[in-house]
Amino acid sequence: MLRDRRILLIIGGGIAAYKALDLIRRLRERGAKVRAVMTPAAQEFVTPLSVGALTADHVFTGLFDRQDEQDVGHIRLSREADLIVVAPATADLMAKLAQGLAGDLASAVLLATDKPVLMAPAMNPRMWAHPATRRNRATLAGDGVLFVGPGRGEMAEAGEAGEGRMAEPLEIVATAEAALGGGVLAGKHVLVTSGPTHEPIDPVRYIANRSSGAQGTALAAALRDLGARVTFVTGPATVPPPGGVAVVRVETAAQMLAAVEAALPADAAVMAAAVADWRVANAGAQKMKKDGSGKAPALEFAENPDILARVSKGQPRPRLVVGFAAETETVIAHATAKRLRKGCDWIVANDVSPATGIMGGAENAVTLITDAGAETWERMGKDAVARRLAARIAEALA
Ligand code: C5P
Repeated sequence: MLRDRRILLIIGGGIAAYKALDLIRRLRERGAKVRAVMTPAAQEFVTPLSVGALTADHVFTGLFDRQDEQDVGHIRLSREADLIVVAPATADLMAKLAQGLAGDLASAVLLATDKPVLMAPAMNPRMWAHPATRRNRATLAGDGVLFVGPGRGEMAEAGEAGEGRMAEPLEIVATAEAALGGGVLAGKHVLVTSGPTHEPIDPVRYIANRSSGAQGTALAAALRDLGARVTFVTGPATVPPPGGVAVVRVETAAQMLAAVEAALPADAAVMAAAVADWRVANAGAQKMKKDGSGKAPALEFAENPDILARVSKGQPRPRLVVGFAAETETVIAHATAKRLRKGCDWIVANDVSPATGIMGGAENAVTLITDAGAETWERMGKDAVARRLAARIAEALA
């Protein structure tokens, strides 16, 4: 995919600059030709000598370097690339491009280019959360700049954690591949279910659960970023659906089943929805009223169809079916049994006890259960879980 593609890597000044060295290796391993621009701040973290040794090319550092300008020049530099990757993209570089500033080589190249730009932001969580950075990110995304990350996790500053950690080099590589057309999942159709379901009690009341749809939404976005065509069947979630996917909105489990069946065939199905196990069998056609007797109405329940089991055991069966298991106790044992019972290939298990803050929260701690056994991942942002799982799905479908 990256063979002979020309990538201009702009390295910004931040502690994550050291990861740019690994990124260069990963890109070149895949056959890309990498040329690097370093800001003055980046050179405080890694040296042009190391970067040049890895790119096997001249490293460009200054807008006013007479030799560089004569040999290549910032305009040619920006045009002689198929893709520009900014890693780490600092708050400063984002702000400069959002404003159209071009007073140094990195920002001049970004302003002069007519090629896709992919930014991998990395900064302190407070800087990332600042309204100014938020605005700049939205402006840049509106201008067509692509983003990968940041994820959550420990920061270089002792004791600080949160969103702001640069995406891992392999995630940046996967996103670069997708940006250059045809990611690893190009030509593949992936079905994702997400969100809670609402099961009506009467026309104005329903039974629901605390699923926000955040994990399913992140997964759909991650699969899209790898080039998949994604059908996203979602219950009434609290987070908005991602762009660039086919969204099918449903309310009840029965509607979700119908939407899922209509979306098949698919190469993979990822069932992240928190589907209600039961619906109200005696739901009222009219709003239920208090009758003055002091007696509460008795709701009767009927079991909902198990969408995951139907897809796993039905035809046409996707090559890979992934279920989720939200448990509050003996998570792995329950999830392992569930995988066999439902007939899916993988189960992503997590503990949703209220103390974990996972349901409705931004982070997830999951165990992936496959026929090879259980593998527990460290707690991380739902976006990071999504990207790791998407990469595994891509590997399985390769
Ligand atoms: O049985 P349980 O609800 O714990 O199973 C969870 C997994 O099964 C999730 O992947 C969920 O999306 C799926 N499921 C389903 N249809 C149901 C219940 C669960 O697809 N009726």
